[in-house]
Amino acid sequence: MERWFKICLLLCLFGVLKELRPSEPFLTEYLVGPWKNLTTDQVYSEIFPVWTYSYLALLVVVFLVTDFLLYKPVIVFEGICYIMTWCVLIWGQGVAAMQGVEFLYAAATATQIAYNTYIYAQVPLSKFQVVTAYTQAALLTGRCVAGILGQVLVATGLCDYYTLNFISLAFVSAATVVACFLPSVSQSIYFHRGKPREDDKAQDQLNSQQTHDVKEVHQITTEDSESEPEWTLTSVYRLLWIDFKASFSNAYMLKWSLWWAFAMCGYFQVLNYIQPLWETVAYTSEATNIYNGAVEALHTFLSALAIVAIGYTPVNWSIYGEPVIAVISLFEGAMLYIAGTTNELWVTYVTYMAFCITYSVLITIASSEVAKGLKQESYGLVFGINTFLALFFQTILTLIVADSAGLALAPPDQFKVYGGYYVVLGVVFISMAAYNAGRRSGRHRAET
Ligand SMILES: *[C@@H]1O[C@H](CO)[C@@H](O)[C@H](O)[C@H]1NC(C)=O
Repeated sequence: MERWFKICLLLCLFGVLKELRPSEPFLTEYLVGPWKNLTTDQVYSEIFPVWTYSYLALLVVVFLVTDFLLYKPVIVFEGICYIMTWCVLIWGQGVAAMQGVEFLYAAATATQIAYNTYIYAQVPLSKFQVVTAYTQAALLTGRCVAGILGQVLVATGLCDYYTLNFISLAFVSAATVVACFLPSVSQSIYFHRGKPREDDKAQDQLNSQQTHDVKEVHQITTEDSESEPEWTLTSVYRLLWIDFKASFSNAYMLKWSLWWAFAMCGYFQVLNYIQPLWETVAYTSEATNIYNGAVEALHTFLSALAIVAIGYTPVNWSIYGEPVIAVISLFEGAMLYIAGTTNELWVTYVTYMAFCITYSVLITIASSEVAKGLKQESYGLVFGINTFLALFFQTILTLIVADSAGLALAPPDQFKVYGGYYVVLGVVFISMAAYNAGRRSGRHRAET
């Protein structure tokens, strides 16, 4: 078996196991249930916001630490964070302990970046896309199976929400063991560079205005690799800055990145508060059957199908990107608004699934458009920066609408706000599309 394939298998196994957390769709039910006896107010406006704040705070550190520690220890650490999350979730009591759970969970989410960038360091460039596809499929499979497993165990009465957490704990522990078998990495992008970048020269020609900078760094890294392979703060800072400038100086990239960040902000917020919404609607409509797990499984599966379909659809996104983003954003806004106004549990399920599936499609398009304009090495940085922006916006949104220090709106009202947020996003992109179309036809007329 070839080395890259063995690594790919390990990564997929880790991915499936760590996503096998069947208790997750029922987290809110568990927290407000007899095991923890927390009030919905405590859960919604004191506990859940902690995830957003912690993720934002940890992301910057994690990005650099991942590179510095050479990926693998951070992947193992991700597993350990999940184990600690479930230990505190099972045995901890009270608001402070559950805020600790959210912090640990945020640490696990933030270190996911190591899983994504490890591929870059260990897999040959020619296999990069295949391995990325496999690992993403592994994550989706894990999530889908977790949803089904959780739903079946709850529906058949084999497990209550408490016992489900032990199953999650077992799977994330197994994932951590698998992570230990991943081979170590000896080179990274910023701190531990073995050789100067091969594409520095090509970039040199691409960015004529930055020629000076690039040459200088190219020389520095060449010298580094010959005399002493150690990094210096200045060299790391310069490499980061050059990647940053090269990545974001292009207006097309900037447009997709901004949309990406804004959409991700809304998506994270919906993920964080969909369970409170379900809980609220189920309570007011006195629904007895909860299908949270089935819904998570179904939309994960349908999103995967949609993503594959998009891969086979030949569309020139540089022309149709803006109108498609605009229309789908408006659609998503409508879905969230409906979810916030309905009293029927099944309506919130369907609108949530429609939202998630269209989001996955758009984010796939956005990330492939962004990736087109990038060197593969910069991908981690751009992804990190976009996620950082998303979390920054989300922190503001959470503080205003969800936190006990802000308005602390009820979940249905929150969803009306999120619906409005996507409508604004859609209107902005419609205006941009109209402006660009006008300019194009104006230019066309001038030419003929
Ligand atoms: C939660 O409340 C129920 C009913 O009041 C009680 O039986 C149970 O022991 C409580 N659980 C905890 C963990 O405090």
